[in-house]
Amino acid sequence: MILYSHFVVPVLCILLVSTSAFSFSFTTLLPDQLRRSTTINHGHHAVEPAHETFGLPRFGLSSRLAAGRRSSSSPKTVNVDDFGAKADGTDDSKAFKAAWEEACASTNAVLVVPENRIYHLKPLTFSGPCSSGLTVQIDGTIKASNKPSDYSADPRHWLQFVNLENFNVRGAGTINGNGKIWWLKSCKINKSLPCKDAPTAITFLNCKNLGVSGIRSRNAQQMHIVFQKCVNVKAWNLRVIAPGNSPNTDGIHVTGTQNISILSSVIRTGDDCISIVSGSRNVIVRDIICGPGHGISIGSLGKGKSEAMVSDVFVNRARLTGTTNGVRIKTWQGGSGYAKNIFFENIVMNNVSNPIIIDQNYCDQKTPCQKQGSAVQVQNVLYRNIQGTSASEKAIKLDCSNSLPCKQIVLQSINLASVSAEDKEAASCANIKGLTTFGRVSPQCS
Ligand SMILES: *[C@@H]1O[C@H](CO)[C@@H](O)[C@H](O)[C@H]1NC(C)=O
Ligand SMILES: *[C@@H]1O[C@H](CO)[C@@H](O)[C@H](O)[C@H]1NC(C)=O
Ligand SMILES: *[C@@H]1O[C@H](CO)[C@@H](O)[C@H](O)[C@H]1NC(C)=O
Repeated sequence: MILYSHFVVPVLCILLVSTSAFSFSFTTLLPDQLRRSTTINHGHHAVEPAHETFGLPRFGLSSRLAAGRRSSSSPKTVNVDDFGAKADGTDDSKAFKAAWEEACASTNAVLVVPENRIYHLKPLTFSGPCSSGLTVQIDGTIKASNKPSDYSADPRHWLQFVNLENFNVRGAGTINGNGKIWWLKSCKINKSLPCKDAPTAITFLNCKNLGVSGIRSRNAQQMHIVFQKCVNVKAWNLRVIAPGNSPNTDGIHVTGTQNISILSSVIRTGDDCISIVSGSRNVIVRDIICGPGHGISIGSLGKGKSEAMVSDVFVNRARLTGTTNGVRIKTWQGGSGYAKNIFFENIVMNNVSNPIIIDQNYCDQKTPCQKQGSAVQVQNVLYRNIQGTSASEKAIKLDCSNSLPCKQIVLQSINLASVSAEDKEAASCANIKGLTTFGRVSPQCS
């Protein structure tokens, strides 16, 4: 009951707050849980988004506010053009590197990438530690080299921001991965080619107190924006766009990261809008518009018998359109660890295949996956107020592990209809210990 109470209780409390049987010991948990799923504040310096009006991201406004509020000491401006950036189609990497060194060494510096110009960059790592309060203001366009030989030293990354603390990236500019040549070389597009990784467009690695706002990320070579081993991150008003058929172009990927909020963003790509993988904890995803893409995913986890740990993920207010999944937890057979305390709330699905899915038999490889005796434990997952239309006949598919069943799954106020009037929606729920439903839930598990 102790374990159980940690999760189910807040739900019960809301419904049964006047029912003495449940209210006695749980009321202490309720405010905390509610706070966490609605107004959690990660308590660092980045400015709270001024407008999170669902469906109306206001680009540029937050960054202006941020600029207005950081007035305590007048910032030193470092313009890449003053370091020899030409924006004429030639490589501007050297100038960016020199500007970075200068900005990094100065307190509260703003590294400016001016608007109405297109800069070209080879793979580049912007390394810290830097003086505190560094901001990169991107108003122009940054375009990636599309010569594979430029990436020979590290084929996995294009732009990296590494070892930074109290650092911001903002602006209304575009970071364009120029990804087409990589997509054509993908084994998912051309089946006769071997599967190779392509560069991630933007990686934040080992960051602490990071704010990322306003910018557009387009046509990444592979993933668009990765937060890796970061703590205290706020990302908001982002636009991440690539064709729906571009391979592996995840929008925002969170790995090994604690305390991250991703807010008020539009993500339309060829893979997961947001993917959250091992080592991630306290993840808030709120006011997201997603699609095309593969939906909002936790995982994949447990590949190659690995141990995975993901917990305390709060997805609140999202609208998904035409995606191949809605909210998904995907794990490979044979892994270990857990995905637990996961809340999916207030989500609108529009013509989404697999709107609600747990897939513990995930297998994304050319050869079939063998049956395994272990699994990542999926535990304490809430689906609440999820409405809209499904493009597949299984609107709810909870395919939990045969060897390690899911525990404590709650479905509350779910209404998913078929997008086509003739079809009847169905739900399948396998290998679950403790499936609870509240309110109207349609379709129901057969
Ligand atoms: C994450 O946030 C929590 C709650 O705000 C805080 O107690 C904790 O110290 C943060 N973690 C890190 C590594 O800063
Ligand atoms: C797929 O790759 C093979 C091997 O490089 C190449 O010969 C073929 O033209 C490619 N197919 C397409 C459709 O690009
Ligand atoms: C649903 O999406 C499919 C493509 O995935 C499209 O062909 C169909 O027209 C869409 N239906 C509606 C009602 O939007």
